[in-house]
Amino acid sequence: MNFELPKLPFAKEALEPYISAQTLNYHYEKHHRGYLNKLKAAIEGKPEAQKSLEDVIRTSDGAVFNSAAQVWNHSFYWESLTPKGGQKPTGELLTLLERTFGSFENFKQQLAEAANGQFGSGWAWLIAEGKTKLSIMKTPNAENPLSQNKVALLTIDVWEHAYYLDYKNERDNYIKACLDHLINWSFVERNLQMVK
Ligand code: FE2
Repeated sequence: MNFELPKLPFAKEALEPYISAQTLNYHYEKHHRGYLNKLKAAIEGKPEAQKSLEDVIRTSDGAVFNSAAQVWNHSFYWESLTPKGGQKPTGELLTLLERTFGSFENFKQQLAEAANGQFGSGWAWLIAEGKTKLSIMKTPNAENPLSQNKVALLTIDVWEHAYYLDYKNERDNYIKACLDHLINWSFVERNLQMVK
């Protein structure tokens, strides 16, 4: 596959005041692009260079896995956020969240607990287990649901580089801002619709 950095789905200042343009700039231009460049250098001329990014993630380990998974995770994270997001989903997704977690507020609380409870760097995820069951998971470092054959609907990056410039050590405030103001529920709905 031709490994390219996907375009950010919003302008770098579009998530302010919750995530600053400065954070977005470093995060996208330095971290995300950096993982992609490392991946391309590591697989150049090797069979992996002909695989899809998803296949590289499923079949690699070590440095190649870390770079490939971080490329995928960040692309998925950008899509998980949107200016004027947060709010509350509707329809089938809301019903499923309420049935799984008791209420939408309980869901937010449990995802926040997972995100805050991830020791060190990592990710928090909403997962679809088939079309009718959801769950929450957290993963360390670059690990993601793909390598566990799970379907991700939504993610929040909890590496310090995602929030330190804006929130310093207060990860919980960054998580709350994401959940209250930035989650792209249309993206989550589209992901749920694609679940078989
Ligand atoms: Fe990140």
